Amino acid sequence: MSRTPPPSLFDPIRVGAIDLANRIVMAPLTRNRAGAGQVPTELMVQYYRQRANPATGAGLIITEASQICPMGQGYLDTPGIHSAEQVAGWRRVTDAVHAEGGRIVIQLWHVGRISHSSLLPGGAAPVSSTSRVARSKTYLGQGFVPVSAPRALRLDEIPGVVADYRRAAGLAMQAGFDGVELHAANGYLIEQFLRDSINDRDDAYGGPIEHRTRLLVEVLQAITAEIGADRTGVRLSPITPANDAGQDSHAQALFGRAVERFAPLGLAYVHVIEGATGGPRDLTAQGVAPFDFGALRVAFPGRWMVNNGYDRAMALAAVAEGRADLVAFGRAFIANPDLGRRLREGAPLNPPDTTTFYGGGARGYTDYPVLETA
Ligand code: FNR
Repeated sequence: MSRTPPPSLFDPIRVGAIDLANRIVMAPLTRNRAGAGQVPTELMVQYYRQRANPATGAGLIITEASQICPMGQGYLDTPGIHSAEQVAGWRRVTDAVHAEGGRIVIQLWHVGRISHSSLLPGGAAPVSSTSRVARSKTYLGQGFVPVSAPRALRLDEIPGVVADYRRAAGLAMQAGFDGVELHAANGYLIEQFLRDSINDRDDAYGGPIEHRTRLLVEVLQAITAEIGADRTGVRLSPITPANDAGQDSHAQALFGRAVERFAPLGLAYVHVIEGATGGPRDLTAQGVAPFDFGALRVAFPGRWMVNNGYDRAMALAAVAEGRADLVAFGRAFIANPDLGRRLREGAPLNPPDTTTFYGGGARGYTDYPVLETA
């Protein structure tokens, strides 16, 4: 009798139409270093190139969240994917990653109410599912400031938002990306529609779960129609409190139904943040009901990517035990351009410098040391 060995974090895998050399993923990481016009810079090219070779870096890079339209921006100097200049800037990034043998998808972002009028066209109010302001802050360069009060999107404006996502997905393919990840996590626009703690609408996009999941499903339908489901993934964070996302009253039912509704589209992968983004994985001490992430996966036929607080041992176990196909690492990839090699060799990791996460130049960005070659 022959038994197939369990899969390893270091084994190749096909994710939709994208062939990866291993299952180590660089999580999406906002770094606020885009240039004028929110265009990717040469420094960003260098940063992604450093992490692109799958022999030492990631099997797949997910870019920092990138706004799909000017109204989708919420922080200073985040890159966009809505202008020709941005497409040209991203093309230099994807060329560099592909030259290293890597694969890269772009995270498509609309921040909704997590923004400040000073960042938006004509000093406009941010848009959301609601007109209630978030108790949250945004980064404007001189530190963090409270977000501005939003305006609830009118029903007749929603098709335009869906069209912006679709257009951005098309531009991402022009820029040479292997695919896109819809950012439906961390309290931004899509989650502002999903959760009943935020969404107070009484139209077709608010109220029952079928209504609150509508925007997510419509956006995924639009993106997949544009570029194909086999190049589309989606990121969810069912219980994160990030960006003043209060807990949904029935999170398990909401996210279970969301996955069930988009599963027939045939997406390449789902990417789940387990717990509070960058914080505790278990929120029961904070009074949050335990969430069964495995139950979400049952309804989804594609690849399953997990994230949040994974170290080497946890990642190896998650893949070997079949709980995940891929594991995304955030902070560890900021501080370790050769994280893939370090995980393979069990080498120690550089600690991240949190003071250089958001904004600045090369320091704390492209100057983290790699392992010496013996
Ligand atoms: C993040 N995170 C994040 N998430 C996301 O979906 N889009 C983004 O642009 C960002 N930006 C970002 C910037 C920085 C500096 C940090 C630290 C985090 C969350 C990130 O992808 C990940 O979910 C968390 O860091 C938890 O994973 P780790 O760090 O425990 O592996």
